[in-house]
Formats: sequence, C-alpha cells, structure tokens
Amino acid sequence: MRVDLVTIFPEFFRGPLDFGILRRARQSGLVDVNVHDLRDYTHDKHRTVDDRPFGGGEGMVLKPEPIFECLERLGMTPAQAELERGTPALRARGESKESVILLSAQGRRLDQALAAELAQLDRMVLICGRYEGVDERVSEHLADREVSIGDYVLSGGELGAAVILDVVTRLIPGAVGNEASTRQESFTAGAEEIGDSGPSSTCGSGGLLDYPHYTRPADFRGMTVPEVLVNGNHEEIRRWRRRSALEKTMRNRPDLIDATALSEDDRELLAEIEGQRSVQRK
Ligand code: 6GU
Repeated sequence: MRVDLVTIFPEFFRGPLDFGILRRARQSGLVDVNVHDLRDYTHDKHRTVDDRPFGGGEGMVLKPEPIFECLERLGMTPAQAELERGTPALRARGESKESVILLSAQGRRLDQALAAELAQLDRMVLICGRYEGVDERVSEHLADREVSIGDYVLSGGELGAAVILDVVTRLIPGAVGNEASTRQESFTAGAEEIGDSGPSSTCGSGGLLDYPHYTRPADFRGMTVPEVLVNGNHEEIRRWRRRSALEKTMRNRPDLIDATALSEDDRELLAEIEGQRSVQRK
C-alpha cells in the first residue's frame, strides 16, 4: 500500500514511522509512506497555509490552494482520478482501491471495521487538518471521506493519521508476525473463524475486550498469576479467559456486549459475574 501524508508538521512523523511493526512494514516494502510538507505548495514569501475565517470567529482555517495543489501533484484530485482510475463516486462507495481521507474531529469515527476496509486499499492519502478548521471545499471536493479517531478534540490531524497508519498497517497480511494474534485481539469479531488448535487460538474475544495476559514470574512481589493459567488445563483456561473478557467488557465497555451474540455458556458466565458483583456490593 502506498500512503501519502499531507501535513504542516512533516517532522511529526519521524517517531511514529520509525518503530516496530510500521518500521518493518516499510522496510519490507509492504507500505510505502511519503510525507508531504503543505508549505512546499505555497507561493508567497511566508509560505502561508492558513487564513482568517469568512464570517468571522476565532482561529485560523487551512487554505484550500496548497492542499489542492499537493493532491494535484500526487495525481489524486477527483478530476485526475476520473481520467485514470474511476470516479469519486466509486471511491465513496468503497469500489475503488484508493481513498483520499481528511482527518478531523468532524469525521466518521474510526473503528476496527473501518480499519479493515482501509486495509484493502492500494493507496491512501491522509490530509491532516488543524483543529480550528480546514476550508470545507477540501472535504466537499477533494476527500472522499472524513475520519475522526474518537470523541475528543485534538490540536491536529497528525496524531489521527499516525493512528490510522498503525491500525491499518497491522492488518496488511505479513505486517504482523503471527497473523492469528491480529484476529484474536479486542474488537475483532468472529472468534468462531479461528482454528481449533490449543488455548491460544480458541479464545478469540469475538467482539469483546481481550482477556488478561500474564508471563513469568508466576509470583512477582507477591502478586501471583491466576492458578488456572499455570496448571495448563486447556478447557479451564479457555473458560477463564472467556469469563475474564466478559468481566472486563462489562466493567469498561458495557456498550460492546451484544446479548444476541452471546452463547449459552457466555450467559452462564455473565450470570456468575453478576452474582459475584452483587455479593461484593453487600
Ligand atoms: Cl483526526 N483531528 C482532530 N483535529 N481532532 C480529532 C480527530 C482528528 N479525531 C478526533 N478528534
């Protein structure tokens, strides 16, 4: 996948691109990341990228010209796409292998499903907005989608772009050492799809938060690892992990618990958890 990052802070991406999975994916050629300094697409002495908002109000707004010119250079404006690779309408319907994404707090909220959709692309252009705003013509006429990484306000889209890049890269086959591990993490639905080969692969979280993990030492400063994990009964371990995932999800993300997706076993485990909680409350 080719990724183009359009930003007024190109130096920002030095860190995020240079560690771990992202670094390896770049080195092995799985992703080709290019950072573009928006100021390189200005024509005045001060390399101006923003201006005051029409209608008045606080803050500055990113000007459309440098962003359009940058995308033109990349061959990624709608007119260019229409000539060469299919219409913007196709892009918006997810029927194109490329996407121009504006990062902003006003976008569709990123989740694992959207990340999986983006991981299918051949090319992704990420335009980093500033929190005061980006001239709306960028969203209207240049980007085929606007994405936010959560319900809070960041000072710029750079952190959002880094998050998307991380989340999407690790979904590209070959980017993460053990592919089973990406399928099993929190938020990956469909535990049933995971093969049946020992406890590591039968405990997919299936839309729940991940279960807790422990490694040696079994006793660290008196804090011990749950007995069941040390004893090695696969069926008991599977049940403990499912129960722990349910428990953690109930506590931290009750909105993720979809009663219709729970098995009979899950319902029993939930009842047990509820029972214990009410005893603890007394
Ligand atoms: Cl991608 N950008 C900004 N400026 N704020 C955000 C965001 C992005 N996602 C959540 N809040």
